Amino acid sequence: MNWLQEFPDHHPRIWLNTAHQGVLPLKAAEAARDAVAWKLEPWRMTQERFNGVPQRVREGIARLIGADANDVVLANGASHGQHLWADGLGLNSADEVLLMSGDFPSTRLPWLRLRADGVVVRDVESAAPVPTVEEVEGALTDKTRVLGLSWVHSFSGLVADLGAIGELCRDRGVTFLVNTTQGTGALELSVEDLPIDGVTNAGWKWLCGPYATGFCWMRPEFRECLKTKRAYWLAFQTASDLAAGGDPDPDRNVGARRFDLFAPANFFSFNAWAAGLELLGEIGVDRIRAHDAGLVQQLLKGVDRALFAPVSEVGASSIVVLEALRSDAQSIASGMAVAGIEVAVRHGRVRLSPHLYNTAAQIERAIDALNDCGRQGANS
Ligand SMILES: Cc1ncc(COP(=O)(O)O)c(C=O)c1O
Repeated sequence: MNWLQEFPDHHPRIWLNTAHQGVLPLKAAEAARDAVAWKLEPWRMTQERFNGVPQRVREGIARLIGADANDVVLANGASHGQHLWADGLGLNSADEVLLMSGDFPSTRLPWLRLRADGVVVRDVESAAPVPTVEEVEGALTDKTRVLGLSWVHSFSGLVADLGAIGELCRDRGVTFLVNTTQGTGALELSVEDLPIDGVTNAGWKWLCGPYATGFCWMRPEFRECLKTKRAYWLAFQTASDLAAGGDPDPDRNVGARRFDLFAPANFFSFNAWAAGLELLGEIGVDRIRAHDAGLVQQLLKGVDRALFAPVSEVGASSIVVLEALRSDAQSIASGMAVAGIEVAVRHGRVRLSPHLYNTAAQIERAIDALNDCGRQGANS
């Protein structure tokens, strides 16, 4: 399957910053235009579409992460799930939460706020940006209730061992909650087979969704422990039920839908995202993973090791982070942008994040530009 034709042709520009924003597939752009057409003629916003669009998103996600669609919560980013968890667990001064230092802020802030309630919130001490299972084990205490971290670390590309860390958490009765944003869509994930309780994920990176899309998945037994005062009417009934009148029962168990973002049929975003998720599902994450891994390998082989030290090596994730040894990261990124190649600077390092729409020829150009820019700094 040649999926390149499913994406816009950016030539001569090269987008190597999926860890910031994934590229919207052409089918998704078309679906967004359809959603605009429905709003121009509102009689086209039918009940089937109100029900069908959120359901297609749920099913598209479920297929990509090995979940039951009924356990998928619709969201507008990763922070939605983080807040459901931090707000809903009812933690107090008898409890402790462990985090990963240097993690993406949305994986930390909702928990750090709990310090005001006396909850102990600590970082796992680790030598590398992502802790090992031994380091997590060393940090656990009898008070630890939650371990919350990212699967793929945004600023290094390093990957947490969810299997081993999750087993440890299970043995010790610790809830394990993972921000999978920088992995899902690029690395295979099968949430039901992993010893984890919940994942939360922004949709606009490796899942190629519009900005302000996302999801959260929770194991049903964990979901049932969460407290919430939410009772959004569309989780309990459809607009058609308004014809008869009367309140639905706000205590009825409606499963994961109780935790959805409000207005889950947000057509402009979700009609587009549904089409994109279906495309990724058709391609298959195994094939995307193989493609991305080839690009990462090529990149790491091609960069001049006298100019750059990679923070992660091949096989980790689709994020390549390079320490510039003889120049500064910002001037390298600016030099590459002049050459039409878009990369990011994060925590003082150059970050490149190729995905399924990038090609080996683009990586070849990126390598030449990187080595040129890394050398120029060294000469100036
Ligand atoms: C790991 C990770 N989580 C979350 C986000 C953003 O999601 P949100 O704005 O919903 O927190 C990003 C990047 O923007 C990220 O790298």
